[in-house]
Amino acid sequence: MNENKVIPEHIAIIMDGNGRWAKQRGLPRTAGHKAGVEAIREVIENCSQRGIKYLTLYAFSTENWKRPQKEVSALMELLVFYLKREIESLHRNNVKIVTIGDMTKLPEKAQNEIKSATSKTCKNTGLNVAIAINYGGRQELVHAIKKISLEYEGRTEEIDESTVSSHLYTCGMPDPDLIIRPSGELRISNFLLWQMAYSEFWFSNVLWPDFNKDHLNEAIASYGERNRRYGGLDLKDRKVKK
Ligand code: FPP
Repeated sequence: MNENKVIPEHIAIIMDGNGRWAKQRGLPRTAGHKAGVEAIREVIENCSQRGIKYLTLYAFSTENWKRPQKEVSALMELLVFYLKREIESLHRNNVKIVTIGDMTKLPEKAQNEIKSATSKTCKNTGLNVAIAINYGGRQELVHAIKKISLEYEGRTEEIDESTVSSHLYTCGMPDPDLIIRPSGELRISNFLLWQMAYSEFWFSNVLWPDFNKDHLNEAIASYGERNRRYGGLDLKDRKVKK
């Protein structure tokens, strides 16, 4: 028997392949990022329609600062542009925007736009969209460990898994059921390291700017076929103790 929830409650996406998409067309990498922004709209719309509760989008990692300054600035500008352009429609569609990561290192303009988007949508009850910006799984764990050690002052016996979960940026969100990575790369790139303990994965060669609702539906359908056992056994294989 398949014990899986047919529809994932939480989908997380590593939006990869923008640079290669642009290169294939002889365009600058930033054109790939611009095209990547357009793919976000379709995914948000379709996640809302399909009744997904949480969508996490990996937009900028703690390692992405290593890219040329021009590309970093373009990504920050795009974030501001995206939030400015989409916020009214997201709000109308009852989408709640949050961010995960360390926002303090972002340009002031980006921080202000994020504050405005998150406060405007904070009471919305539809799809929860978490944008991961200046996010790294290891950095998130270091941040949590620092907070826990200050708070618990050595009372280690009181610390359990739920303590760690509740000190992560994703506090209050369920762990991702399904992680999607397009672009043909088969790695996790420092994304949701703690939260992915029992996530299902869907990889595809499609480049992020070309990702559309058909790919999303394919990923969700594939998830629906999975048999999640969380380290336990299939119901049919469990022996009842006499
Ligand atoms: C990875 O592709 C993509 C990124 C590092 C940035 C993702 C950002 C966006 C889609 C747009 C900005 C986001 C928002 C929320 C407005 P890559 O550049 O590593 O591609 P490559 O591997 O083909 O070079």
